[in-house]
Amino acid sequence: MKLEMRGLSIDWLIEIIHLCIERIVIVDHNGIIVYIDEAYCEFIGTTFDDAVGRPVQEIIENSRMQIVAKTGEKEIEHLQPINGSVMIANRYPIFIDGKLVGAVGTVIFPDPDNLRHFKNKMSNLLEELNFYKNKAVNELTSKYSFDDLIGNSQAFIEAKALGEKVAGNESSVLVTGESGTGKELFAHAIHQNSMRSHFPFIAINCASIPEVLFESELFGYEDGAFTGAKKGGKEGLFKVANKGTVFLDEIGDMPLSMQSKLLRALQEKEIQPVGGQKTIPIDLRIIAATNRDLTKMVEDGTFRQDLYYRLNVINIEIPPLRDRKEDIAAISKKLLQKLERKFYRKGTVLSPKVVMRLEGHKWPGNVRELENVLERAINVLDGTVIKSEHLPLYIRDQEINQREEEFSMAESTSTLDLPAVKPLKVTIARAEKRAITHALEIAGGDKLAAAKLLGIGKTSFYDKCKIYEIR
Ligand SMILES: Nc1ncnc2c1ncn2[C@@H]1O[C@H](COP(=O)(O)OP(=O)(O)OP(=O)(O)O)[C@@H](O)[C@H]1O
Ligand SMILES: [Mg+2]
Repeated sequence: MKLEMRGLSIDWLIEIIHLCIERIVIVDHNGIIVYIDEAYCEFIGTTFDDAVGRPVQEIIENSRMQIVAKTGEKEIEHLQPINGSVMIANRYPIFIDGKLVGAVGTVIFPDPDNLRHFKNKMSNLLEELNFYKNKAVNELTSKYSFDDLIGNSQAFIEAKALGEKVAGNESSVLVTGESGTGKELFAHAIHQNSMRSHFPFIAINCASIPEVLFESELFGYEDGAFTGAKKGGKEGLFKVANKGTVFLDEIGDMPLSMQSKLLRALQEKEIQPVGGQKTIPIDLRIIAATNRDLTKMVEDGTFRQDLYYRLNVINIEIPPLRDRKEDIAAISKKLLQKLERKFYRKGTVLSPKVVMRLEGHKWPGNVRELENVLERAINVLDGTVIKSEHLPLYIRDQEINQREEEFSMAESTSTLDLPAVKPLKVTIARAEKRAITHALEIAGGDKLAAAKLLGIGKTSFYDKCKIYEIR
C-alpha cells in the first residue's frame, strides 16, 4: 500500500524545498535535470527554464548526479567545488517500486563548525591523493646502475665499491647520508646488480604515507577490512615486490607502531593483510635509507633498536658533496649531459671560474642542489659556456656574502656604532623567513626537501610558509 500525503499539492512541496537550507536538484535515470530549486539556479547563474531538460553535468560544475542515477549508489558528504566555493554534497538514488528512476542531490555551504570538520577531512584526502600520486611515479623497476654513480673521490669510490660488493648477497642494506647525496641512486644500483634484478624494485617513501594507511599499503587488506576499502581487497606493496627488492626510503620517518609490524614481517618472512586471518609468505630484500641519525633516534626511543640492527646489516654512508669537492666537476659534466637532453642542447661546458665557484660552495643540498643550479644556468644560457653570471646570486656572491657576514658581525660587536635594536620577535622572524627562502632556493622549490634541509617537519614548514607568505 502506498502512503499518500492527503491534500499536499505540488506548490506545497516546492515551498517546502525553498525553506530547506539545502539546495536541491533532481535528475532522471539519464542524468537529465527534472527539477532544480530557484536558489540553486541563482547560485550557479542559470534559470529553472534553462536548466530543466539539460544533462546535469552541463549545468552544475563537478556534478556526479548522472553517475548516481546510473549506479544507484548513494554518495554522502562529498566535497564539491562549485563557483569557487566548496560545497558539501549528498547524492541519493531514487528507487520507485524497486526500480532506479533517478537521483536527488543536495548541497549546502558548510557552517563554521562543520567547516572545520570538512577541512580536516579535505586535508586528509589531499594527503592521501598526494601519496597515491607519488606512488604512481615511484612504483617502477630500478632505473639506475652503478655506472650512473659518478665520482672519483676516495670516499665515493669506497662507498660505491662496498655497494657493488654487497649487491649480490641477500643482506639488508642501510644507506645513510645527507639529503641529495644520492641514496636512492645507490638503492637502484644495488637492486640492478643483484640476483633479484628481474623481479620488482618497489620504492616506498615512508615520510609520505599517512600513518593510518601504512599497514594496508605495505601488507594489503582483505575484502571489507574497513569502510572505504576496495571490494575484493588489495595486495600490499610487500606482496607486489615479492622476490624483488623493497626500498624503504626515509625509514627514520616510519611511526613506531609501524616499526614493530615491519620488524615482525621481516623476522617471520610473512605478512598478514589487514582484516585477514591467513598469512602470506614473502621473499624480499630490504634496502633502507635515511638522512636522519638513526643511532640518536634509537637512544631517544623514537626508533626501535631491534629494527635498526636488522636493517643496518651493511651500512653504506655516502659522504656529503662538500667533503668530496674533487667530484664536483665530473658530476656536473654528467648532470649537464642529462640536462642537455632535456633542453635540446649540445656542447655545454663550464668556464674554469664557474668550476672554482662550484667547488667553493658548501652544498647543503648536495648533488640535488648542484643539479638545480645547473638547470637554472642552462635555462638562462645563450651560448654554450656557463659563466659566473649564469649562477644564482647566492653562489656567485659567496665571497661577498662572507665578507658582509664578517662585517656585520664586527659591526654588531662594535660599541661605537651599534645597529638599531629591533624587538627579538621581529629579528627571529626575519631570520626564519630568510632561512626558509634560502632552503627553498637550494632545494629548487621542492618543499619537502627544503623542510628536510631545515630539519623541520613538513606541516610546520607549510605553516611557516603561510605565515611568511612564501609562495
Ligand atoms: N654520484 C652521483 N652521480 C650522478 N648523479 C647523482 C649522484 N648522486 C646524486 N645524483 C643525482 O642527485 C639527485 C638526488 O639524488 P637522490 O634522490 O638519490 O638523493 P637522496 O640522497 O635520496 O636525497 P633525499 O635524502 O633528499 O631523498 C638525483 O637527481 C640523482 O640523479
Ligand atoms: Mg631520497
